Amino acid sequence: MADFKSIKRVTTHVLFEMKLRGEKIAMLTAYDYSFARILDEAGIDVILVGDSASNVMAGYETTLPITLDNMIYHASSVVRGVKRALVVVDMPFGTYQGNSREALASAIRIMKETGAHGVKLEGGIEVAESVERIISAGIPVMGHLGLTPQSIHKFGTYVVRAREEEEALKLLEDAKLLQKVGVFSLVLEKIPATLAGEVTKQLKIPVIGIGAGRETDGQVLVLHDMLGINQEFSPRFLRRYHNLHDEIKGAVQAYIDDVRSRNFPNEKEQY
Ligand code: KIV
Repeated sequence: MADFKSIKRVTTHVLFEMKLRGEKIAMLTAYDYSFARILDEAGIDVILVGDSASNVMAGYETTLPITLDNMIYHASSVVRGVKRALVVVDMPFGTYQGNSREALASAIRIMKETGAHGVKLEGGIEVAESVERIISAGIPVMGHLGLTPQSIHKFGTYVVRAREEEEALKLLEDAKLLQKVGVFSLVLEKIPATLAGEVTKQLKIPVIGIGAGRETDGQVLVLHDMLGINQEFSPRFLRRYHNLHDEIKGAVQAYIDDVRSRNFPNEKEQY
């Protein structure tokens, strides 16, 4: 296989090959056409249309309120901006838990109406039947274990998960089960690095971490956090690559000043 950077289209098979070859996978979230285009041009491998859209796009405190229609709107916008990356869409809360028929119907809507390449859902054994049913329809599924924000009201806090042995063992069992039922990849969120490394070693599928240390096969961050658009969220695992909040605010203030002082538009900027 050619160099992964020159690959025309990232597929689930490409990600699997990357794991085999020890090449790290770079994944970011996006929720709209314009950002998706930039990420794709930059060479990102996977774009996740995360239900974190509920927080960073819609301003809700949790990921629970976002709807299937909302996610389909975001995902179809992202897909229109992408030529190379694999696009995965989060199934929102309430569209797959406890009812595998509804899970399949929701996943089919996402695939049909957005043109995305796969779906992601949170949980282990509790959602295994839904995962299996979706996969049986030919839809690639990414799992998500560790901190699962859709269950925030069950856990009550966003602290690091699976520090205790019992929870760590359950996570490892869930990871193996998800692999067995056919997920093509797994996200591990906010768990100890040693546990994430162990899961990564024991699984054949690529494991992508967020706050899960450096031993996973790839990393994912929320775009608005890593670009510094969203300044309220500063967990230890987050590396900020920019301070777009201040840059955008500065640009908007300069525009306001120019309009008020009649400096914009000038003669060359009019007809
Ligand atoms: O919704 C999201 O952005 C996610 C990532 C944090 C993995 O699920």
